[in-house]
Amino acid sequence: MSPYSEIKVQLQTTPKVWLITGVAGFIGSNLLEKLLELNQTVVGLDNFSTGHQHNLDEVQSLVTVEQWARFRFIEGDIRDYSVCEKVLKGVDYVLHQAALGSVPRSISDPITTNAVNITGFLNMLHAAKEEQVESFIYAASSSTYGDHPALPKIEKNIGNPLSPYAVTKYVNELYAGVYARTYGFKAIGLRYFNVFGKRQDPNGAYAAVIPKWIADMIMDENVFINGDGETSRDFCFIENTIQMNILAATAADTAKDQVYNVAVGDRTTLNTLYGSISEALMANGIECKKLPIYRDFRAGDVRHSQADISKAQNALGYQPEYKILEGISKAMPWYIEFLGSK
Ligand SMILES: NC(=O)c1ccc[n+]([C@@H]2O[C@H](COP(=O)([O-])OP(=O)(O)OC[C@H]3O[C@@H](n4cnc5c(N)ncnc54)[C@H](O)[C@@H]3O)[C@@H](O)[C@H]2O)c1
Repeated sequence: MSPYSEIKVQLQTTPKVWLITGVAGFIGSNLLEKLLELNQTVVGLDNFSTGHQHNLDEVQSLVTVEQWARFRFIEGDIRDYSVCEKVLKGVDYVLHQAALGSVPRSISDPITTNAVNITGFLNMLHAAKEEQVESFIYAASSSTYGDHPALPKIEKNIGNPLSPYAVTKYVNELYAGVYARTYGFKAIGLRYFNVFGKRQDPNGAYAAVIPKWIADMIMDENVFINGDGETSRDFCFIENTIQMNILAATAADTAKDQVYNVAVGDRTTLNTLYGSISEALMANGIECKKLPIYRDFRAGDVRHSQADISKAQNALGYQPEYKILEGISKAMPWYIEFLGSK
């Protein structure tokens, strides 16, 4: 049995109380679905700034009545310390996802991004230390590699941040390190690399590339490729990300006070991604007739990104179960239904 399978069995035998911040968002709602399926008790916090009630409604429709009864939702803002204190009462494991994502959003509004991603993070970290939770797992980001040219990306080698967003995620790591050294409170940062899957928002100015392109192709809108299309990313299907969160939350103390890459260890260019999405749509009977339109490179974007995942494999037993093509074909029916129902 894989470490992940073993832990899932253990959790069902000895259920825990989890807090998911950002629970109405893409990653948060997928974590919620998995934890409820595993009969865990979950407290969820969100202020609906980028998350949606319909994500929570969808999870409710996918789990049993008994499982849903183990979920308690609190609407609130992580910038308010008293909210953080309140949601943490009696919690064993924290999965801190709430933040304002998107490099371009942070370039147009660094002040709000800073307040949520740094002050909000510190509020959560401090309140979690005070509550003496067993584990504090937080969403870090591959943007922390910044302008460091080496590939694949190894956790200890980082460059200069290229956006306010990248600064905020790096500051999270710095604070987590300081809390370990100063108070002995050991967190784990998960450096996500372009996560994708169902419930990732295809709408809005700051939508991520995969849901945005799927939506544009289904709606027969123009698809824009920033730059020459040879920009590459290590796209990581949501199920792999869930696995890492569960492995990290249940990890031994020796694996804590660390950051880990969360990815597959592959690299896909935007041009290849475009072809893969068109093919997956075609397999579902949807033909994309328009050719992509190339435009300028986007400010703040890293040119290439590919993770070395050996640290997570060795320390946590991480074994990504889905590569990009499997992930896209698993996510596609959800997008077709979601966009069809609009
Ligand atoms: N999706 C990715 O590819 C990716 C990559 C790297 C890092 N991350 C990080 O992962 C986390 C989750 O990202 P996601 O893709 O699910 O984004 P998302 O926008 O779907 O989810 C974020 C959630 O946090 C909530 N939130 C934002 N500000 C809040 C506040 N002040 N108080 C309470 N809730 C608040 C939002 O309403 C939303 O539901 C974020 O920390 C993000 O920076 C994501």
